[in-house]
Amino acid sequence: MDLDQLAALRTPDGSAALAAATEVAGGDPLAAAAALRSAGVTAGLAAAALTQAELRRRAVGKFGPAAAGMFLTRAGLEQATRGVVAARRADRLRAAGVRTLADLGCGLGADALAAARAGIRVYGVEADPVTAAMAAANAEAAGLADVFTVECGDATAFDVSSVDAAFCDPARRRAGTGRRIFDPNAYSPPWDFVTALADRVPHTVVKVAPGLDHSLIPAGAEAEWVSVGGDLVEAALWCGRLAEVPRRATVLKEGPPGNASGTGHHTSHQLTGSGAAEAAVGPVRRYVHDPDPAVVRAHLVAELAGELDATLADPTIAYLYADAPGATPFARCLEVTDVLPFSLKRLRALLRERRVGRVEILKRGSALEPERLRRDLRLAGPEAASLVLTRVAGAPTVLVCRPVTYPLDHEATAG
Ligand SMILES: C[S@@+](CC[C@H](N)C(=O)[O-])C[C@H]1O[C@@H](n2cnc3c(N)ncnc32)[C@H](O)[C@@H]1O
Repeated sequence: MDLDQLAALRTPDGSAALAAATEVAGGDPLAAAAALRSAGVTAGLAAAALTQAELRRRAVGKFGPAAAGMFLTRAGLEQATRGVVAARRADRLRAAGVRTLADLGCGLGADALAAARAGIRVYGVEADPVTAAMAAANAEAAGLADVFTVECGDATAFDVSSVDAAFCDPARRRAGTGRRIFDPNAYSPPWDFVTALADRVPHTVVKVAPGLDHSLIPAGAEAEWVSVGGDLVEAALWCGRLAEVPRRATVLKEGPPGNASGTGHHTSHQLTGSGAAEAAVGPVRRYVHDPDPAVVRAHLVAELAGELDATLADPTIAYLYADAPGATPFARCLEVTDVLPFSLKRLRALLRERRVGRVEILKRGSALEPERLRRDLRLAGPEAASLVLTRVAGAPTVLVCRPVTYPLDHEATAG
């Protein structure tokens, strides 16, 4: 996609081509192109419209219904923040009193649009001309062009003295190849610029890869890890006056808001702590809790252990064991029915005896390949079980478990 193609898509003919492409997107690409051509759309416009329609279809998972009006590139969509995460961040910025924000490397504008929707005036800067033009088109399509404006240029040269807050989500993929960059010094804008921003703007947020090395967290910053539906999606550094705690795990789950704060159809649950505490170690107990990846990455397993009155069975492995099942959004709970030193023969015999034909396999601290194990077990029977492959005090161990359903099994039977 180039600037001329984007401009063509934004004409009345382009809108009609996009509408026609939306009808046929997702099916056979050759038939879709032929349908547009027979409706009188030129070959170039048809190709651009079909690409957009296809990207919009893929973007629904990230942006929901808003995807239908957005202009997208493949690379921009891959790097864009999910709507629910961007909305939550925007709400927090707004609640901290932020009224004006510089988005330094705004991409297609997913974060900037969320901030603008939250009532923040956003100044976006984007180095890539097509991406910048698309971000501006997205602001217009969302009816936010007066509160989110985009300048095409180098974010490192932007004068941040006039804004309340700065946000930077540096590119972590190489332009052209799209390959992931793991070394923060190769991010764009560069890591030095990003980390120095906090000295210039007292409210600064930086989005980073969830695999970020803890040693790179600037002193005094809050590091937050975010999961959506159990998938770890990103980390963010809240700097300066925005830092509230050393570490935070934010777990976003689909469903109606209970005690937690609602964001769209998601509820947000927060666990905070120092990130330096260590959980106590003890024996395997009746219930095992598998912490959410945001909790594990934020080094908040000890804090969760405190909430669940739980202990580890191995100091290096994040499964938590307790005498009672914990109804927590921060972990999945299973009831342990058997504990075996790992032996394929013994496990196969036990599952045969129990007539287990289906297993889900969880693992931490085990080199076993779940699919290979599943084949080797040669399961047969009507029952289901959960297998947890792990280590207990250093020894390879398998826990045979059954899931605890909510409301908790014992409450359901007691009631
Ligand atoms: C990860 S993306 C931003 C995604 C955005 N937060 C969103 O959710 O839609 C990073 C963007 O920064 C841009 N970029 C990289 N270096 C830049 C620089 N020095 N100045 C301005 N933009 C830059 C890239 O072109 C890319 O579009």
